Amino acid sequence: MEKSIAKEKIEALSEKVAYHNHLYYVESRTEISDFDFDQLLKELQELEEQFPELADENSPTKRVGGDITKKFQTVKHEYPMLSLSNTYSQEEIIDWENRVKKTAPGELKYVCELKYDGVAIGIRYENGVFNRAITRGDGKQGEDVSTNVKTIRSIPLRLKGNYPEVFEIRGEIFFPLDKFNELNQQREELGEDLFANPRNTASGTLKMQDSSVVATRGLDCFLYGVYGDELPADGHYESVLKAKSWGFKIPTPERRFIERTDSIEGIMDFINYWDENRADLPFEIDGVVIKVDDYGQQQDLGFTAKSPRWAIAYKFKTEQVSSKLEAVTYQVGRTGAVTPVANLTPVPLGGTIVKRASLHNQDQINKLDLHEEDTVYVEKGGEIIPKIVGVDLTERKKNAQKIEFIEKCPECDTPLKRFEGEAHHYCPNDMGCPPQITGRMIHFISRKAMDIDGLGSETIDQLFREGFVKNSADLYDLKFEQVENLERMGKKSAENLFNGLKESKSVPFERVLFALGIRYVGETVAKKIAKAKKNIDAIISSSYDDLIAVDEVGEKIAISIQEHFSNEENREIVERLKKHGLSFEIEEEELDSSVLEGKSIVVSGVFSHFSRTELKKAIEKNGGKNVSSLSSKTDYLIAGENMGPAKLEKAKKLEIPMLSEDEFIKLIEG
Ligand code: IVH
Repeated sequence: MEKSIAKEKIEALSEKVAYHNHLYYVESRTEISDFDFDQLLKELQELEEQFPELADENSPTKRVGGDITKKFQTVKHEYPMLSLSNTYSQEEIIDWENRVKKTAPGELKYVCELKYDGVAIGIRYENGVFNRAITRGDGKQGEDVSTNVKTIRSIPLRLKGNYPEVFEIRGEIFFPLDKFNELNQQREELGEDLFANPRNTASGTLKMQDSSVVATRGLDCFLYGVYGDELPADGHYESVLKAKSWGFKIPTPERRFIERTDSIEGIMDFINYWDENRADLPFEIDGVVIKVDDYGQQQDLGFTAKSPRWAIAYKFKTEQVSSKLEAVTYQVGRTGAVTPVANLTPVPLGGTIVKRASLHNQDQINKLDLHEEDTVYVEKGGEIIPKIVGVDLTERKKNAQKIEFIEKCPECDTPLKRFEGEAHHYCPNDMGCPPQITGRMIHFISRKAMDIDGLGSETIDQLFREGFVKNSADLYDLKFEQVENLERMGKKSAENLFNGLKESKSVPFERVLFALGIRYVGETVAKKIAKAKKNIDAIISSSYDDLIAVDEVGEKIAISIQEHFSNEENREIVERLKKHGLSFEIEEEELDSSVLEGKSIVVSGVFSHFSRTELKKAIEKNGGKNVSSLSSKTDYLIAGENMGPAKLEKAKKLEIPMLSEDEFIKLIEG
């Protein structure tokens, strides 16, 4: 393809992808299927790979991340990032409004907004193009987190419509609650410590070095202020609405996320509405913000040292109830992690009855200085389980005993361990501790692992109690009568269960590997390892160095894998599962030939007999490996028409053998 044509194509594709991104992430609707969208994106990615010199740093392909930032640069804010004065009292809102009326002459309008509980961000655009994104920092200077912010799909990289040449837009980056709870659920499955709350997690995510991890987290952003020399309107409200026409996700008036009013009654109505309804929002807010609308009047009101006089935040009191601590019990998970749980006298809170609250770990208990029968304050945030935030010391019983973390496993009496640097205590008796044994089997049969129909956690518990199973391999040795005669089972259900077991034998290797329940080996990591190592024996015999060479496998995971298979019982389980016919190797498509075995090949340019995808497929089908960039380890460069000059030069410099399309065809046809 000629460069000029490629340029046009890249531009057209970029525009298309950006358009559909905007529809999906800003307007929450779609016009094409996920599949068609992925095709567009892939086509763009391939063209950019082929013509790297035409790839824009704000291309929609940047949304998937990949750039690593070792150290975020400190940048001075062009307009200081101030904070807001806060109040919890409606009286003080009335006082504020009276002061405003006195100072700012003329008719007044107020803009009421939600106070998003996230991380403030200022994003600069130049000529309609994303320039940089800076955190609040100390208000005078912040950190440049552009690479990470670019992965947030609702933030446009190129604007449309009639925008000012240079301006900054500010808003709040937050963790949507469903994404936050999903992330914690994944972490729990992997035996990792849970994140405490959505706000801190959003903040931590924004400072991660690897932007491709940020891209998977699902952060979102609402924009609430436009700053610059040329603003699009005379007031805040119109400016924000204008920003919507440039492609930004702004708070929606239709859902009362933003509202303009000219009276204190209007302000109070907004406050009360959200105090009542905020539990239904899919993200967390901690109050509402009231701003004077008119920019001229804002100027008249001016600033104190820390905050503008033209705005005030009304903060909601987090709903808090007190209850009595009846007991602390301890739960043992499948990985052996021991979690303390506070059992409380039941109390209503945020629409549900709360009986239990998580205490997380020993440090948390110590921080609260929790004593027996304490009266405790309980709050519910975006997390599923409520938390204890404090103790009412005036209610503490005389001579109450301090809560001491247990020393032995509540299930099997083994002395617990706590490793340096880790928050959790562990029960090391993984092969003999009942909830660890059943937990592993429950993980094995779960939907994302072996997905065994007709078998659930209760049946696993029953089978274990009867002494029929103690590991996943035992499931395949079950006898029909053993199952049929279980309580609440019967012939039909037993048949279902055996069918489910039979069908699970066709589950692909990567899911079997995940099902084994190796600590820290989640779904994605299992996939990467399975793909890299091809079969279980290769994984078992891998050295530490072999393992960490696999994409996404770090020190912690590599050690965990080696530990898992150094245990003879675990190896025996694998052998037995193998005999039962579970798949322990990647199903490879049959190769056409092995002429390219072990060869790393780079493809560049345009071809007449193959599309690039077909060509890459042909390489794999003949045993070769596709790599994306040239290095001294590349064995061949297959050069098509119009290959980029930079690539050509590099290939020459590295003395990499080049094949034309015809030479390649001759080679594979042998
Ligand atoms: S306006 C000068 N509007 O609250 C005023 N801030 O304490 C600038 N926040 O750092 C802020 N929602 O992170 C504004 N609708 C909203 C907001 C909001 C949340 C945060 C923001 C800021 C902090 C101020």
